[in-house]
Amino acid sequence: MASARKFFVGGNWKMNGTKAEIDGIIGFLTAGPLDPNADLVCGVPACYLDYARQKLPATIGVAAQNCYKVAKGAFTGEISPAMIKDIGAEWVILGHSERRNVFGESDALIGEKVAHALSEGLKVIPCIGEKLEEREAGKTEEVVFTQLKAIVDKIPADKWDSVVIAYEPVWAIGTGKTATPQQAQEVHGKLRQWLSDNVSPDVAQKTRIIYGGSVTADNCRELAKEADIDGSLVGGASLKPDFVHIVNASQ
Ligand code: PGA
Repeated sequence: MASARKFFVGGNWKMNGTKAEIDGIIGFLTAGPLDPNADLVCGVPACYLDYARQKLPATIGVAAQNCYKVAKGAFTGEISPAMIKDIGAEWVILGHSERRNVFGESDALIGEKVAHALSEGLKVIPCIGEKLEEREAGKTEEVVFTQLKAIVDKIPADKWDSVVIAYEPVWAIGTGKTATPQQAQEVHGKLRQWLSDNVSPDVAQKTRIIYGGSVTADNCRELAKEADIDGSLVGGASLKPDFVHIVNASQ
């Protein structure tokens, strides 16, 4: 990665964890040692956000894994950015491929969520990525640019410091099939160029683009060496002590 951008690692716990298991994760994160030059944020199930925020050191961020697009009201089962902020968490992951593909979230809805979360003062990790059949049909760029545009259109010019973009090819998530560093770099480079052409060269230079999809302690360092890969979003491997190596991958 380019040295001007601070390395960023997200641990996406997904729908995993009990209080006892979370205590275990907090234990290995606290023991570290963690690279002080990397940002670390844990994506926590909604019901444990408060617990995790209270128990994790302040240097480690806490993210919700989703939120709704308005502050409050008759939306059974949803949580709002205002609630996430109220318990002291700082971040939200939006548009994860499981939200898109299991729960049918559209580009438009994800854009509205990004806009509202930013307006409430949360920092956001919007996710984009192509499916296997889209990659095989040569549509990777078309898909990720369309997804990115729906998000970028909703980001006010003064909020880019609150955005970390995650590129997660759907075929690599939870499958053990990591994109090669070259495959990931190719898309990251194109995303950065798209930001330069469609937002500004300054935003393109400063915005972190992280890779997700079967990142492990074994492959994280090779990925981190690529010029446009500024960190990772990690699912399965974020639940295990090896995650410390992934946080430290740019050292
Ligand atoms: P994985 O998940 O690391 O288990 O592939 C990544 C993600 O979905 O964010």
